[in-house]
Amino acid sequence: MIEVTPLKAFTDNYIWALVSKESVYVVDPGDPNPVLDFLSENNFILEGILITHHHYDHTGGIKTLADRYDVPVYGPVNDSIEGITHELRENDCISIFNQDFKIFEVPGHTLDHIAYYSDADQKLLFCGDTLFSGGCGRLFEGTPAQMHDSLQKLKSLSPETLVYCTHEYTENNLNFAVVVNNENEYLKNYYSEVKIKRKNDEITLPSSIQKELKINPFLRLTDENIISNASDFSSIDINKEVDTLTAIREWKDNF
Ligand SMILES: [Fe+2]
Repeated sequence: MIEVTPLKAFTDNYIWALVSKESVYVVDPGDPNPVLDFLSENNFILEGILITHHHYDHTGGIKTLADRYDVPVYGPVNDSIEGITHELRENDCISIFNQDFKIFEVPGHTLDHIAYYSDADQKLLFCGDTLFSGGCGRLFEGTPAQMHDSLQKLKSLSPETLVYCTHEYTENNLNFAVVVNNENEYLKNYYSEVKIKRKNDEITLPSSIQKELKINPFLRLTDENIISNASDFSSIDINKEVDTLTAIREWKDNF
């Protein structure tokens, strides 16, 4: 059994710590200090680092941690990321605490973006800035079509999969989602719950695939209510799922 603990970093990042006994893997350590504090407070040992994409708020801690701990650093194929020791591609598999994690290439937010998925008894997804609770990453490098393909991969995972994304963006995302999908009563109720949680400074993650299918407009691209609202907003003709995604991504970027 892997215990997954959030370590807060910067203003709204989570560095996920995967813990088993005294051993720890961390996902996307943009800042080394929360990781070093967590290790020393608990007398834990760092066993490895997992990276999802090249952005500095996900990679900035690699050097400090790898200088102190001689551990594998898994990440995408991208020479611009210093310190990756194990490059990962689509369908590669790595073992963490004897649990297999499969790699998906999920371009869109960036071109190098990968996600880590375990389909063991404990179903876990570490998806960086691709799928957020209630939203998806901005398209800094990829196209809407690439993001659509990436989200399709994640959408098809087991519904009970726990979704660990890197930012606490849920409230902001749902603030948009309730406008785009204004006839979704489940979404409205969930937004109310999230607002209370955030007021109390509580974390809204992990989410689950099941939950996201109900609340996330970027996974609900055939929803008639969303298509209708997206058509009112956008000048593009909406005929396919990727058209809906293009329209609502642009809408969210300017919301
Ligand atoms: Fe990013």
